[in-house]
Amino acid sequence: MLELQGLRAGYGSIEAVHGIDLRVPQGQITAIIGPNGAGKSSTMLAIVGQVRTMGGSVRFQGEDITGLGPAERTRRGIAIAPEGRRIFADLTVRENLIVGGYLHTPAEAAAREEEVLQLFPRLRERAQQRAGSLSGGEQQMLAIGRALMARPQLLLVDELSLGLMPKVVDDIFAALLQLKAAGLTVLLVEQNIQRVLADADQVAVLTAGRLAYFGPADQAAAQTDLAKLLLS
Ligand SMILES: Nc1ncnc2c1ncn2[C@@H]1O[C@H](COP(=O)(O)OP(=O)(O)OP(=O)(O)O)[C@@H](O)[C@H]1O
Ligand SMILES: [Mg+2]
Repeated sequence: MLELQGLRAGYGSIEAVHGIDLRVPQGQITAIIGPNGAGKSSTMLAIVGQVRTMGGSVRFQGEDITGLGPAERTRRGIAIAPEGRRIFADLTVRENLIVGGYLHTPAEAAAREEEVLQLFPRLRERAQQRAGSLSGGEQQMLAIGRALMARPQLLLVDELSLGLMPKVVDDIFAALLQLKAAGLTVLLVEQNIQRVLADADQVAVLTAGRLAYFGPADQAAAQTDLAKLLLS
């Protein structure tokens, strides 16, 4: 579904991602893990067109999208819940969702909102609440919900569990598995290796802007010393 070929990306003249090849298969959960500063977020942002691509290509559903801007990529079916969540703190939960559904007619957006609220009932209870007053877990649900409002075929989530209680992380992973069962493709950045090995189909280990391992999650632990890679 998504294919990165020799992707290089960075900021100004500084390259942060030095040529990665990655295939994200349709209907699966692929997780990127790696130490701080490895280029995980830069890779995610290059996929959605928010960080400059300096070489290589991004292909989505068989088409080269390397030169497209962020809005066109959203239109084609890629949405992101970014690192730090970046919800609109002064808007209500409902207003944040409406912003995420801007591409749709009001009727489509309302139907989509209902699906999101079914997936995350906590958001329904807090629909009129200011988003900035939500707990960290609820904010993450809102960031994912807002991304889902675009009706993506590929959902990106950067730092899914950072700072969240295990129970909330369980709830969010359960929601992702439900979305996967409904056909969504997911690419996430996640620091919790146990979670990744349990719930992801494929794992990519990124160190210093390069791919150190990429393969099935159930073989990752046997084929590579993950702990050593993550400390490198
Ligand atoms: N806006 C920016 N301007 C310049 N350099 C940046 C910018 N954002 C990130 N970088 C640099 O790019 C490199 C990769 O950073 P990136 O945020 O992609 O890593 P990461 O793997 O997501 O790390 P973390 O685990 O801390 O989130 C780092 O050297 C970082 O300093
Ligand atoms: Mg990051």
